[in-house]
Amino acid sequence: MPERDATPESIFLNRRQLLGATGIGLLAANVPSTVRASNYDASPEVAPELYPARQNANYVLDRELSPSRDVLTYNNFYEFGSHKDIWERAQNLPVKPWMVKIDGMVAKPIEIEAEDLIRKMPIEERLYRHRCVEAWSMAVPWTGFPLKELVKLAEPQAGAKYLEMRCFMKPDIARGQRQRWYPWPYLEGLRLDEATNDLAFIATGIYGKPIVKQMGAPLRLAVPWKYGFKSIKSIVQFTFVDKQPMSFWEQLQSREYGFYANVNPEVDHPRWSQATEKPLGQNNRVPTLLYNGYVEEVADLYKNMDPSKIFY
Ligand code: MTE
Repeated sequence: MPERDATPESIFLNRRQLLGATGIGLLAANVPSTVRASNYDASPEVAPELYPARQNANYVLDRELSPSRDVLTYNNFYEFGSHKDIWERAQNLPVKPWMVKIDGMVAKPIEIEAEDLIRKMPIEERLYRHRCVEAWSMAVPWTGFPLKELVKLAEPQAGAKYLEMRCFMKPDIARGQRQRWYPWPYLEGLRLDEATNDLAFIATGIYGKPIVKQMGAPLRLAVPWKYGFKSIKSIVQFTFVDKQPMSFWEQLQSREYGFYANVNPEVDHPRWSQATEKPLGQNNRVPTLLYNGYVEEVADLYKNMDPSKIFY
């Protein structure tokens, strides 16, 4: 049985009927009218027929989902500015068509339109936590596919050890990219066994609809056991390599942001504590958990490694 069939059909159909009846996502139903009039929850029409997808019951939460209004209007997307209020600017990003390259140490490089890629993949919904290195957090329903399915499609060569991911480069649209002190384009990487871990996910949707632009349409990584900066948005290229990639934040400030960036409440950032976090939409702080609560799923990946190298 494919994982996406894990939720009983009745639940899936009920959700679909409700969404159809209201015309908005279930979880967006209580958005107050004081929010700026325009459409922060506007989803681009990328493979819209796939949403909402069946929920995979293996990935559920111990906490409430964050309110969609908070999640969709409080973003880090430096391409559009270095503050949180970028959702409107991000609407200028054209996401259809969106060409994606899969190249490097692979059997045969692939160039494919994002919508075609998404339609080839086993789409499912998963409820995931997200912990930003800045100590805010959220819990969201992503829709998408396991990154290991993309790795399978790519057929990496035996010598490939890492997967490098690149964001678009469009300084005419994304004005943050005109700031030349940043090492654009945004780049992130994973070790290949991290990329093929069951938790590593490519998000193509959120709150039961295609993913909005400010959250990284049309393809965005979600690796919930790592600090949020690893979850690169709006990916245009997946490259298989044999050397550890130097990611965007590591290039900028390697004393503060490392390659592994696994969540650990006991290892402080050089400038602040990582012991607690503030969930979006709440006024309280809650304790941060080792690997953001995903110890069982990922601890094995790091069992023989020096802890001082994997928690920043
Ligand atoms: N991806 C790109 N391309 N550009 C960015 O600035 N910010 C990262 C990550 N992915 C970022 C990015 C950081 S620091 C975080 S915490 C998350 O995206 C924020 O995701 P959200 O805005 O969807 O909550």
